[in-house]
Amino acid sequence: MDSTTCIPVPGDRPYDVLVGRGLLDTLPDLLPGADRVAVLHAPPLKGQADRIAGGCAAAGAKPLLVEVPDAEAGKSIEVAGQAWAQLGAAGFTRTDAVVGVGGGAVTDLAGFVAACWLRGVRWVPVATSLLGMVDAAVGGKTGINTAAGKNLVGAFHPPAGVLADLDLLASLAPVDLVAGLAEVVKCGFIADPAILELIEADPAAAADPTGPQVRELIERAVRVKADVVGDDLRESGLREVLNYGHTLAHAIEKVEGYRWRHGHAVSVGLVYAATLARLAGRLDATVADRHASVLAALGLPTSYRAEAWPELLATMRVDKKARGSRLRLVVLDALARPGILDGPADTLLAEAYRQVAA
Ligand SMILES: NC(=O)c1ccc[n+]([C@@H]2O[C@H](COP(=O)([O-])OP(=O)(O)OC[C@H]3O[C@@H](n4cnc5c(N)ncnc54)[C@H](O)[C@@H]3O)[C@@H](O)[C@H]2O)c1
Repeated sequence: MDSTTCIPVPGDRPYDVLVGRGLLDTLPDLLPGADRVAVLHAPPLKGQADRIAGGCAAAGAKPLLVEVPDAEAGKSIEVAGQAWAQLGAAGFTRTDAVVGVGGGAVTDLAGFVAACWLRGVRWVPVATSLLGMVDAAVGGKTGINTAAGKNLVGAFHPPAGVLADLDLLASLAPVDLVAGLAEVVKCGFIADPAILELIEADPAAAADPTGPQVRELIERAVRVKADVVGDDLRESGLREVLNYGHTLAHAIEKVEGYRWRHGHAVSVGLVYAATLARLAGRLDATVADRHASVLAALGLPTSYRAEAWPELLATMRVDKKARGSRLRLVVLDALARPGILDGPADTLLAEAYRQVAA
């Protein structure tokens, strides 16, 4: 059997991200003393949830399977309410635990359910998508969507541990796997250029879930996120760099009514941020151009509709990360040297978009 890599996430409530193969049966080790374990999952991951429930039962804990709607449809207060009702009916106490088996949507929901139940019980995300492994399951941010917007309601609630079982990627749609790689590329630009070299050397291998490259990419991206969130759980400063490419990405997602994959929007957002930094005189053209080339090599989108600009700009101004209506964007001053572009002129924002637009 392959060895398991253990990546520590430091902080007040430290935990480990375990990356490897055949990890599902090790889940009970992360929740010692739990009498009951609720296993939240969407229909596509039912087999894996059943297996985890079986492992919990074998370890002496009573499993409770909680099926929720797939993807964003599960991230609602109604679904969370139904889960809490099931926990209540099963008599869940403070020593019991919640597990989320799925992509980022299910793990966000599971973490939120755990954060609120009795004001916080232990939980473990079992990330099944590449985006979940490198991003959503790491860092302790949990949440749901409401009528007011996506992810506006949530809690910081670090997990007891994270499982990233690479075997699970085999059933993930290739388009979802590649979309998740946009976040990996982001980590390459803000902190770990070896990621970019790995992808450039063999883009097809980077997207092969059975190969060693994808494992190395995941581990490197998790380390980047772990280092950042370990020092800044609550997004007071340092964590902001993880938002690289996300200001435009969030606007594209909103304009598209969330029908675009997050990773696709991030890909365009990364190219935009690099163009902006180049035009602002902060980033040299070689590093800026490398954004589009590495993302395109993976088959990710690097441009968006020109006529959407007024709507995108208006949407960016109400982004969670904006201060007042002044835009604050993460840019690069060099490879692996992120900084902030605070209050850029509208003309600069528009010219960068013109250069990126299709
Ligand atoms: N908490 C955070 O810090 C954070 C960070 C980034 C993203 N997110 C959230 O993550 C969500 C996006 O996550 P996602 O991209 O994983 O999307 P997702 O959770 O919607 O999953 C996408 C689809 O893939 C399916 N799937 C997942 N794993 C599978 C597997 N192994 N085999 C077959 N099908 C599988 C899912 O059932 C779903 O249909 C968003 O809600 C986003 O807000 C959270």
